[in-house]
Amino acid sequence: MSITRFQSQTDPRAPDAGDKPKLHVVTFGCQMNKYDSLLVEGRFKRAGYVTTGSIDDADVVLFNTCSVRDHAEERTWSWVGELKQVKAERPDLVIGVMGCMAQRVEGEVFKRAGHVDLVVGTRQFQHLPGMVAEVRARRARPDAFRARDMRLLATDMTEDVAVEREGEEYTGGRHGYLAVMRGCDLNCTYCIVPTTRGRVRSRPIDDLVREAEWMVAQGAQVITLLGQTVNSYGEDFSVPGPGEARMLGRQGRPSLADLLYRLQELEGLVRIRLVTLHPSYVTRPFARAIRDCDKVDRFLPLPAQSGSDAVLKRMKRGYNLDLYRKRVAILREFVPDIELGSDWIVGFCGETEADFAGSEALLEELEFAVNYIFKYDPRPATHAAERLDDDLDVSVKKARNRRLLAVAERVQRTRLARYAGTSVRAFVESTSERDPRVLLGRTIHGVPVSFRGAQELVGTTIQLAIDETTAYGLAGRAPELAGR
Ligand code: SAH
Ligand code: SF4
Ligand code: F3S
Repeated sequence: MSITRFQSQTDPRAPDAGDKPKLHVVTFGCQMNKYDSLLVEGRFKRAGYVTTGSIDDADVVLFNTCSVRDHAEERTWSWVGELKQVKAERPDLVIGVMGCMAQRVEGEVFKRAGHVDLVVGTRQFQHLPGMVAEVRARRARPDAFRARDMRLLATDMTEDVAVEREGEEYTGGRHGYLAVMRGCDLNCTYCIVPTTRGRVRSRPIDDLVREAEWMVAQGAQVITLLGQTVNSYGEDFSVPGPGEARMLGRQGRPSLADLLYRLQELEGLVRIRLVTLHPSYVTRPFARAIRDCDKVDRFLPLPAQSGSDAVLKRMKRGYNLDLYRKRVAILREFVPDIELGSDWIVGFCGETEADFAGSEALLEELEFAVNYIFKYDPRPATHAAERLDDDLDVSVKKARNRRLLAVAERVQRTRLARYAGTSVRAFVESTSERDPRVLLGRTIHGVPVSFRGAQELVGTTIQLAIDETTAYGLAGRAPELAGR
């Protein structure tokens, strides 16, 4: 999963915005956080807020945070820290910290950043507008509340996140996110996510289809289905839910395959993407659904993490190399042209030079087209941090990171070179920020492609002749525009 930070999009201040209070959300972490930030913005809008792209005129600032590596947390602390001065100048400001780091450190936020008013975990954020109102009400009665009661914390994980977006304006753009499940039931020894996101809860298929319809009706053309192990969708349904009998999957309960067949039928939806898959849940019905549904990207992020059986075992990933290869073989049997992506952790506890060479070899053998490489970072209270020895020097981790990146670039370059001279269909996503005459699209294999063309082509699917390829994408031209 790529880790990025994004900020809420500015709502042009509508003439009727009047004196509506303004919300600004700063989002760190993965796509799940981006989705959650939109849900939160929707909740606030229902409560009479507008969103703003700037902290300067915001009445409420929220940080939606990530814990996956220490670096992600440190960036958040530094952003939150910068608001201390702002709060001193504008004491009316309400500042909240939500998401994975909030869930992990809970009340420690108040200790490290005394100017924060709210700490809200990953399953409580639907209550945020009410909590902000409560903070305001308490501030108005300083005689009745002690200073420490002016701050509120909500980190209970037993509640389900209620998603009610219908009736709201969809602001997610042409490319929308849809979390089909929350949490993770696996326990990879290095990973903080099961702690911050809790047990798996899948959402009923009918709810998801309705939400997708609502998004598409308002302009979404691509939808990325999100889950920590998105292909385990439905595994937590023990019996078919009410009204879901017709959706029985092969396993006797709804699965991601069933959801794909439903979404394939959605008129106006052009592409369906999946983030992130886990090898343990790659089944033949799933592979068949991808083959049958031509809207589903022929690109799957299927993190291997390591190419050494000994390391995979210490990571408790739940597969060995043999099983991983078998799962890839199932995918390639049904969809021979599938492109795969992987995340890799280098320098995990006890990783020998031979173990590391295994990662280089697996990347090369299976020809992953997209690779994200991370240096192992012990996370507090995880199995690995507590029981395994983080024995590799940071210089070794850095060197292995560089080496694997070099292998990845070479493999990616070779893999993408196969598209040179071919004709590909691409969905045109946007214009390039650097040059508006250049359009950016993506092939059904998830490969970025740039070409010259008119802005009106954004949102359409176009046939392109590929002239150039790199390790990261393609450059081409639209034949009907050639010679102009
Ligand atoms: N659910 C996804 C991954 C979520 S975290 C999956 O199972 O694939 C995104 C990526 O961060 C992981 O794939 C892993 O490569 C990396 N990561 C997670 N914990 C890490 C840690 N403690 N140190 C370094 N990288 C880590
Ligand atoms: Fe973390 Fe493993 Fe779950 Fe992914 S599958 S979120 S790496 S515990
Ligand atoms: Fe980070 Fe939480 Fe996503 S830890 S990667 S924001 S699930």
